[in-house]
Amino acid sequence: MTTHDPAGALVVRIEEALARLGCTTAVVRGGPASGDARTLPLEERLLIASAVPQRQSEFAAGRTLARDALIALGGPADAISRGAAREPIWPEGFTGSITHAAGICIVIAARTNDLASVGVDVERTESIETALWPTICTDAELERVLAAPEPSRGSMIAALFSAKEAAFKCQFPVTKRFVEFRDAVIDIDASGNYRVGDATRGGAAADVFGRIRGVVTAGELFVWAVSVIGGTRAR
Ligand SMILES: CC(C)(COP(=O)(O)OP(=O)(O)OC[C@H]1O[C@@H](n2cnc3c(N)ncnc32)[C@H](O)[C@@H]1OP(=O)(O)O)[C@@H](O)C(=O)NCCC(=O)NCCS
Repeated sequence: MTTHDPAGALVVRIEEALARLGCTTAVVRGGPASGDARTLPLEERLLIASAVPQRQSEFAAGRTLARDALIALGGPADAISRGAAREPIWPEGFTGSITHAAGICIVIAARTNDLASVGVDVERTESIETALWPTICTDAELERVLAAPEPSRGSMIAALFSAKEAAFKCQFPVTKRFVEFRDAVIDIDASGNYRVGDATRGGAAADVFGRIRGVVTAGELFVWAVSVIGGTRAR
């Protein structure tokens, strides 16, 4: 992955992942995680009026890329509001997801005919303290990680973490429920394709988890994941 335009390189990788998941119509946008909040529609400016400058800047980057993606899909150029759990409220007939990390911002937007929901996550590749592993993983996931050769454990944890964040963003618009890291069990194959299982046995999000498919990659610079639920055309 090029270091000159990391966001551009990630956009291409995420488009490839979406294609692997059967969606070639979603629009992926990426750029620096710094935008100018003064250029946002008033409704969006009010959402972050009291935030610190860095937060205003990343929020502006996300909303600007999201609007650009919606326009590319033939959608409206209106303000993208925010729900009580901080989730973006997409215009009727559209869905999407936003992530900002390590100075870059990535947005995916799609028509709900094509994707019922989508979640994207990007993290900088860095080691997650072992003390945190049991808060991220279910006991079974942790056993699988600890059974692997020591040098690969860190990237396995990073992949699980990112896949869970992407799955969370994907399930939330459907369930409207907050699910903990240990509520979901992620099964990743050798190609990075994953499915999501319910670790709570009959938990509220179980049905929705079963409809999520995803791709995760733990790369040199970034760990990223995308989760999707197929839209009406996919049924
Ligand atoms: C909400 C959460 C996933 C955000 O992830 P993060 O790594 O902190 O930050 P990111 O930059 O990747 O994502 C932030 C964006 O997520 C989106 N987001 C926030 N809450 C959301 C929600 N409830 N549903 C969908 N998207 C949400 C927003 O667009 C936000 O950016 P914005 O405020 O500028 O619009 C994370 O903070 C969280 O609460 N995780 C715990 C729950 C979890 O992951 N459980 C896993 C089990 S499935």
